[in-house]
Amino acid sequence: MEKQKYYITTAIAYTSRKPHIGNSYEIVLTDAIARFRRLQGYDVFFLTGTDEHGQKIEDYAKAAGVTPKEYVDKVASEIKEICDMLNTTYNHFIRTTDDYHEKAVQKIFKKLYEQGDIYKSEYEGLYCTPCESFWTESQLVDGKCPDCGREVKPAKEEAYFLRLSKYQKQLEKYLEEHPDFIYPESRKKEMINNFIKPGLQDLCVSRSSFKWGVPVPFDDNHVIYVWIDALSNYITALGYDPDGSDEKYKKYWPADVHIVGKDIIRFHTIYWPIMLMALGEPLPKQVYGHPWLLFGEDKMSKSKGNVIYADELIKRFGVDAVRYYLLSEMPHAQDGSISYDTMIERYNSDLANTIGNLVNRSVAMVNKYFAGELICNTETEELDEGFKSDILGALPKIEKAFNDFRISDAVDAVLNIAKRSNKYIDETAPWTLAKDESKKNRLATVLYNLIESIRIIAVELTPFMPETSKAILTQINTDISDYDSIKTFGAIPVGSKVGVATPLFARIDVEKITEEIKAEMEAKAKAAKAEKEIEGIAQIGIDDFAKVDLRVAEIKACEPVKKAKKLLKLTLDDGTVNPRTVASGIAKWYKPEELIGRKVILVSNLKPAILCGVESCGMILAADCSEDEVKVIFADDLPAGAKIR
Ligand code: MSP
Repeated sequence: MEKQKYYITTAIAYTSRKPHIGNSYEIVLTDAIARFRRLQGYDVFFLTGTDEHGQKIEDYAKAAGVTPKEYVDKVASEIKEICDMLNTTYNHFIRTTDDYHEKAVQKIFKKLYEQGDIYKSEYEGLYCTPCESFWTESQLVDGKCPDCGREVKPAKEEAYFLRLSKYQKQLEKYLEEHPDFIYPESRKKEMINNFIKPGLQDLCVSRSSFKWGVPVPFDDNHVIYVWIDALSNYITALGYDPDGSDEKYKKYWPADVHIVGKDIIRFHTIYWPIMLMALGEPLPKQVYGHPWLLFGEDKMSKSKGNVIYADELIKRFGVDAVRYYLLSEMPHAQDGSISYDTMIERYNSDLANTIGNLVNRSVAMVNKYFAGELICNTETEELDEGFKSDILGALPKIEKAFNDFRISDAVDAVLNIAKRSNKYIDETAPWTLAKDESKKNRLATVLYNLIESIRIIAVELTPFMPETSKAILTQINTDISDYDSIKTFGAIPVGSKVGVATPLFARIDVEKITEEIKAEMEAKAKAAKAEKEIEGIAQIGIDDFAKVDLRVAEIKACEPVKKAKKLLKLTLDDGTVNPRTVASGIAKWYKPEELIGRKVILVSNLKPAILCGVESCGMILAADCSEDEVKVIFADDLPAGAKIR
């Protein structure tokens, strides 16, 4: 029988910066769903990729002194690397700079133009440069961009527009007939009440103010604005072509679900369906708008110094632990928050104590009592039935949770049967049974039940922790891991042998790791502060710099200044015949005798000033090394009087 297809996508990430763990959450979530559907027997096509055009990227590239293509090549490879480190099983990684994509986007644009769905006009509005969006006065929040809160400025531009208004009725009808199209319900209400009901305005779909985009094929002055370019990725990746698409497109389209963040649901549930209606193509079956992941209570941002990247977490905790944490902590509709504290706690309690311990002690007992063999499963007692039905009860819960995109509930269902299995060990006390030779078969049955429950747990863990799942199956030495095999209890054959017990998760030393993380976060916050300071400093031209005369000078004499504890009075040889006096606020860090004979850098054309009775003619250079440490910059190898430029 031919497998049923399942097409699932993530949003394509902007190649503006390396993505933080919040951005990476979406691919892990989507991967868990894709893996689960594969386990169920679907023929899954899982698409992810990068969104690489737009003014912001052109600006970033300019600031970095590289071409936009060089810039996006670098960031796209970082993004792909993170997807790979997170062990995600995408079938295709699309880049909007891929040749086939650009060509198809141009054809889409041309088709829509020729049939009158795209027309040329003029756009006048308030423009937000970072978001590349025009807004109307009424859309602003406190006079600022409603998306990012930054300043907007009036702008006017000749542009092409997509006739959204023409499709308003058709979209409303579609939403009525497909009540699950926008998911969850709260998002649907938001879209209908805030955007559709007030009436759709035609959408600006080209720009002439920057160049980094797919050119409008029949108008050199314009590039296709990012949403038509970006959204089309879902069909161009499958080989869509208005003149005749590939087999892959015919097989997989429409998408079963687009997984996107809450901020871009509007684009996926209004603009995208209308584009498809205009193209005469079927609409995706569902759009799931997931909430965001925050760090503590805060939005993650590089400037706050609280950004966490997936690679850092993976290095510290391992990829499966990171996947587990993201998936188990993430709520269904409200924003979630992550913190190192909860991550460590969940690692120790759920992974090391519950799952790790269960596997370790069960496999160890089979080895200890039966030389690794599952010798029988016939000596059952009443409590076994309850146990088995609890273990089997997880799967329907997992299925329902996946259908409802309540992934953390699915994780919980598996964790709960691991806890249940640990409880079964306590209830049956195998170590006591082992003391009584007449209970040998009962002991063997208990251990059989445990190993079978562990097998079921391992298979059910595949979507969340694929490596752990494999490691467990290796330890119990079975490859029976298909979906049907976890619907009933008892697939593992009597007579099979388990492998060696190896700990899956070493417990984390909370105190040690907390110290390390604290130091790391402090260093990040410091670096962010320094970066902000540098960003905040006004730029100067070379002419401005040339106004500062810097010279090497030798300290010939040095003494404290009586009236000022902070000052030292220096007498310098600056290469001229006249000695020069400078008062410097370095008394806290240097004694006069340490300085005599050393060479320093002098700002020689600073206006003289009287400091606590000393006429200071210049200034010497020093560096702020920490909150309370200043170091003079020495230039001992250079001749006094040498000009520095
Ligand atoms: N390029 C657009 C999407 C175009 S799709 C045709 C974009 N890119 S993005 O890089 O800004 O975001 C990629 C995805 O990550 C979006 O779905 C976005 O909502 C999601 N997230 C961004 N920050 C996030 C968190 N802090 N937490 C969870 N998801 C987050 O939007």
